[in-house]
Amino acid sequence: MKRRSPLPVKKMMVETRPICRADLEQGMTGPGVYCLRTLPRSNWSDDPDVRDLQQLRQKLYLELIGRFGTCGLVAVDDDGVAGFTTFFPKTIARRLGFYTMLGDDELEDTLVVACIHVTPSKRGCGIGSILIQGVKDWAAQRGYSVIEAIGEGQPQYGWHASAPFLSLGFEVVREQRHGSWCGQMMRCKLEA
Ligand SMILES: CC(C)(COP(=O)(O)OP(=O)(O)OC[C@H]1O[C@@H](n2cnc3c(N)ncnc32)[C@H](O)[C@@H]1OP(=O)(O)O)[C@@H](O)C(=O)NCCC(=O)NCCS
Repeated sequence: MKRRSPLPVKKMMVETRPICRADLEQGMTGPGVYCLRTLPRSNWSDDPDVRDLQQLRQKLYLELIGRFGTCGLVAVDDDGVAGFTTFFPKTIARRLGFYTMLGDDELEDTLVVACIHVTPSKRGCGIGSILIQGVKDWAAQRGYSVIEAIGEGQPQYGWHASAPFLSLGFEVVREQRHGSWCGQMMRCKLEA
């Protein structure tokens, strides 16, 4: 697997790499693994309902890796995984029920960022930005022309903020309400 060259983040060295099959089958280590921690079989729950969901998610991610090469990126430093982002082609994101922009223009050319997470003790050091730049590079190399993402403009539920996306070329296209929550749908047009 080709690795991006390490970038200095304050005092840490961080590099990103695509999530691979072995990550899902054998697991990843590090404080930033968060929800990806439950994907390998060794970490499946004893609760049959939770296990069903974990199994289903693992199957989905493995299929995505089989079809598209990966399902996201991890940011790795000396402690292991410090953060990650997951993404899908827009056609898949829609089938899974993620918020996407309306209309079918550029449907096949759009990648949707589903989730981004940096371990709390390492936030504010640029890792989120490295992951977002990594998604842009990954998408551009594979011929995508647009990336969509959703974030919080104002902190509400501590979900991921729009700010790092906006400083990397995304613009807010519309507000997305869900009950009392208000998110921002963002879009980034990639250079041809
Ligand atoms: C959003 C998140 C990924 C950003 O990661 P990060 O490594 O802290 O981001 P960066 O250090 O690259 O920050 C980039 C810019 O965004 C700003 N920023 C980051 N998080 C912010 C927040 N919560 N509110 C306002 N601005 C924020 C930074 O100040 C920085 O601005 P600058 O370029 O002007 O200096 C991280 O805060 C996070 O993991 N939040 C929780 C997300 C979550 O719960 N995800 C699970 C659901 S998907």
